[in-house]
Amino acid sequence: MRRVSLKYLRPGMIIARPVYSGDGRLLLASGLSLTNNYIKRLAELGIGFLYIEDGLFHGDLNIADVVSEQTRIQSVKLVKEAFHSLEKDKYIDTWAVRKAVDDLADEIFSNKDILVNYFDIRTYDDYTFNHSVNVTILSILAGITLKYNRVQLRELAIGALLHDIGKVHIDKKILNKKGKLTAEEYKHIQQHSLYGFNTLRSYYEIPTLSSIIAYQHHERLDGSGYPRCLKGEEIHEYSRVVMVADVFDALTSNRPYRKAFSVPHAIDFIKQQSPSLEDRSINAVLSNVSPYPIGSIVMLNTGQIGQVVDTHKKDPAKPIVRIYFNSDLQYLEYPYEVDLSKSEFDLEIEKILDDKELEQLTNHTNFFVKVN
Ligand SMILES: [Fe+2]
Repeated sequence: MRRVSLKYLRPGMIIARPVYSGDGRLLLASGLSLTNNYIKRLAELGIGFLYIEDGLFHGDLNIADVVSEQTRIQSVKLVKEAFHSLEKDKYIDTWAVRKAVDDLADEIFSNKDILVNYFDIRTYDDYTFNHSVNVTILSILAGITLKYNRVQLRELAIGALLHDIGKVHIDKKILNKKGKLTAEEYKHIQQHSLYGFNTLRSYYEIPTLSSIIAYQHHERLDGSGYPRCLKGEEIHEYSRVVMVADVFDALTSNRPYRKAFSVPHAIDFIKQQSPSLEDRSINAVLSNVSPYPIGSIVMLNTGQIGQVVDTHKKDPAKPIVRIYFNSDLQYLEYPYEVDLSKSEFDLEIEKILDDKELEQLTNHTNFFVKVN
């Protein structure tokens, strides 16, 4: 199985992992053969890649995730309802929010040894709601790394899930505008932090620190954020965690105006933008994400090419790689696995190969499994 970007999808390829819409409906089942129509539809839905059965990288992959599809879908539904009921009835069901974050935290806690594989297949629709859930999952993982107790995890998670709730009060035309925003429009959008804070703090059941997350999630460590240009530790640690999770998830998502960053690229970007890498919130978030997600095709420092088949939480940059090409780029009939964390030969990943590089390097242009 291999992850192939939209540009390289061809009719006849077999889908290896199902594709869901933002609200959890099954769009394409595994085993289905791609047609031109499906490919067109995927492009319209903004899906950037698919997992397909592959004749070259043919081994099975066990892509575990910290949260089950079912829990994720339920959480997305809940955030959506919170936004809609605030808009329509001026009311948020805080009991349901609290239950949702507790369920998420329970499930994540039992899977805390798994690195997040940032390869989920999402559509553009419902971006805000899917994004809110991703930010919450990353924030809870960071909270566990920071050894937060149950109460702290809940405060953090409620704020993470509802960090953008203030967008309900922003003019939809401006919020969804495709072109460049005017200074005035940008100022209006920036108001969502304050609106969110005021909304959340009007509920006595919502912890004050959760409201503060909504207020501070666009501050930046170097003081370049808004609304108050706070710096470093002037920003509450919860807000710093959500801020990093927010930026990370936004960068690694396909957006109508730009392609998603690869995970290593997003990690580098965040580190470059951070004046102080000592800030423990950055490391707490990033240490939970696999820079080489399971399924990535990678080149090692020896020139060998393989596929990442498993990751280690303790050593995220040194996963287990199934080698398919030797250093002379000869295809191995019997691939074998190396655990980079245990290798005695200083084996390292040099880079992730994209579809184009892979084609050029291996001269294999047409190795996908097709239906007869
Ligand atoms: Fe925001």
